[in-house]
Amino acid sequence: MDMIQAIRERHSVRNYADKKIESEKTEALMAKIHEVNEEGNLHLQFLEDAGKTFSRLLSKAMGLGTAPSVIACVGPDDETLEERVGYYGEQVVLLAQQLGLNTCWAGTYSKNNVPAEVAPGERLIIVIAIGYGKTQGSPRKSKTPEQVVPEIDGKPEWFRFGVEMALLAPTAINQQRFQIGLSEDGTVTFTDKGGVFSKVDLGIVRCHFEAGAAYIRALEK
Ligand SMILES: Cc1cc2nc3c(=O)[nH]c(=O)nc-3n(C[C@H](O)[C@H](O)[C@H](O)COP(=O)(O)O)c2cc1C
Repeated sequence: MDMIQAIRERHSVRNYADKKIESEKTEALMAKIHEVNEEGNLHLQFLEDAGKTFSRLLSKAMGLGTAPSVIACVGPDDETLEERVGYYGEQVVLLAQQLGLNTCWAGTYSKNNVPAEVAPGERLIIVIAIGYGKTQGSPRKSKTPEQVVPEIDGKPEWFRFGVEMALLAPTAINQQRFQIGLSEDGTVTFTDKGGVFSKVDLGIVRCHFEAGAAYIRALEK
C-alpha cells in the first residue's frame, strides 16, 4: 500500500478489537517514531499499553477506551510544537495504515493518566489511539477544494491533487478550518483559520498535501 492509498483508506476508528499489535509492527512504528523525533525535534512515544489514557467518561463513551495502545505526542515546548506534532504524527498514522492498523487522533483524554515521559520544558499536546479496529471506519463529509483554496481554477495538477489529499486529512471535529494558497513564485501557503487544535490540524494537512504533490511531481518527471 502506497502513501496515497493509505491516505484514501484511513478513517478515524474509535472501537478496537481486543488484540495486541505484533512485535514486528511495533518495531516498525518505533523506528518511524525515532526518525520523526530526530527530524522534527519531538519526543513522540509509542505506549504499548494505553493504560488509563482514555479513562474519562467522554472518551469511554466514544469507544476510545478500547484502544490497546497509544502514541503520546510530546515535544520541547515552543510556538511551533503543535504544528510539528501534526505534521510528523500524521506520518506515523499513515505508516500505521500501511501496516494494516487503525488510528484516531484524540484531544479528549486524561492528561494526567497518560503513561508518557514528559521532560522539563516539554509538553504533551495530544494522543493517537492505535490498534486493530473493529471496522475500518467510514468516509465523512468534506469541504470542497473551492472552499479551502481561493481561486483554484488554472492551478497546476500537483497543487490540485495536493489539495485533494489535504481534504482527506483528519481534523479536530472535522472542522477543516484551513486555507491553502499558491503564490506566483510557486510557494504553497497554509493558513490556520483558528479553532480547537487547529495548529495540529494544519500540520496534518501539510503532511497530506505534500504527499499528494510529491506523487504527481514524480509522475511528471
Ligand atoms: C487534532 C485532532 C483531535 C481530535 N480529537 C478527537 C477526539 O477527542 N475524539 C474523537 O473521537 N475524535 C477526535 N478526532 C478525530 C476527528 O473527529 C476526525 O479526524 C474527523 O471527524 C474526520 O474524520 P476522519 O478522521 O475519519 O477523516 C480528532 C482529530 C484531530 C485531527
